[in-house]
Amino acid sequence: MKKFLILLWLVVSMSVYGQKFNGLATSPPMGWNSWNRFGCDVDESLIMETADAMVENGMKDAGYQYIVIDDCWHGMRDSLGFIHPHPDHFPSGMKALADYIHSKGLKFGIYSDAGWRTCAGRPGSRGYEYQDALTYAEWGVDYLKYDWCNTEGLNPVGAYLTMRDALYKAGRPIVFSICEWGTASPWEWAKDIGHCWRISGDIAVLFDGKKGHGSWDSWGVLQILDMRNDIRKYAGPDRWNDFDMMEVGNGMTVEEDRAHFSLWCMMASPLMAGNDLRHMSEETQEILTNKEVIAVNQDKLGIQGFKCHQENVWEIWAKPLKGGDLALCFLNRGKESVKIEYNWLKEVIKDDLKGIHYRFIDQEYNVRDLWAKKDIGSTNQVFKRKLKSHDVIMMRLTKK
Ligand code: GLA
Repeated sequence: MKKFLILLWLVVSMSVYGQKFNGLATSPPMGWNSWNRFGCDVDESLIMETADAMVENGMKDAGYQYIVIDDCWHGMRDSLGFIHPHPDHFPSGMKALADYIHSKGLKFGIYSDAGWRTCAGRPGSRGYEYQDALTYAEWGVDYLKYDWCNTEGLNPVGAYLTMRDALYKAGRPIVFSICEWGTASPWEWAKDIGHCWRISGDIAVLFDGKKGHGSWDSWGVLQILDMRNDIRKYAGPDRWNDFDMMEVGNGMTVEEDRAHFSLWCMMASPLMAGNDLRHMSEETQEILTNKEVIAVNQDKLGIQGFKCHQENVWEIWAKPLKGGDLALCFLNRGKESVKIEYNWLKEVIKDDLKGIHYRFIDQEYNVRDLWAKKDIGSTNQVFKRKLKSHDVIMMRLTKK
């Protein structure tokens, strides 16, 4: 009887109190987000055309799913407090837009903020969490990015927990993407709250450096890569470190775009394209749809990569993959080309966190170049290659 009562209490409390929807992001979420390229210039035709493009340009086929409208879709709250989209920019309403996106086999994402106003000054969800969650569920939302502007006096754990519970109560499985910029170390407390959490302030269209915006800075690809030490242990299925939406196709060189994409894949970051999918170059399309590189990001072990070798301006990042495979990314941070020489037989790559070691003297591996899309030999030969500035070589090693 006592056991039964405990069980009953557990079941009741589970349904009264919230929890996270588990199993929605067993690999890092992939999609598109409007902010990096379009900012506040969003409307329903852009979103519908982007969904069309994602299907037509091979991105859907490569695994991209979510079409996320970031800040500025909002109109006003009505007299009962319900939020409505901006009537001029989204005249057909969000339900119709969600239906359109779903009819393409894609999923629909939206943006709100834990504070009183969003970062661009639109109505935030503070005080309206349950009402907004219900509205999103009714519209058919599948993904919520939840920002942290205008939250003076709020506690991040409590604020994100409230929205998590609201989403759970609304009953529609929605990926919960925490955008708190890493200020309060969400990796330490958010694994049962959200499916991913931003680890940095905003990305810039910049490979190496930062851009000042008065009271805040945006960051280059390398700065975000280097920003946090020792948080890879927190990453895994349904709980990803989010390195921010991508700037591929927004103005960096092809080499930089390729490096940016490769590194986000190595770090098991969510892959949210941030460019104009309707008009992109062949190179951008090839980068965003390289299935062998994407497979490294989506690998079922869900292990975040780490730097395993450093030599002047070039270095190697490693990511253990299922089946004993290993992904490697040689990165040239420097402004000039470098000559790489790497003698596998003298090296052991160790992932001490996972207790996985790759000892090339004992085990020969086949080496595949994932950008050239061809096998380039084995670990019994010394690897030699010239690597351009800000470029990468990305490989998959498989036991012979
Ligand atoms: C913050 C977020 C960005 C974007 C903007 C929108 O800066 O970090 O990703 O959502 O707000 O205003």
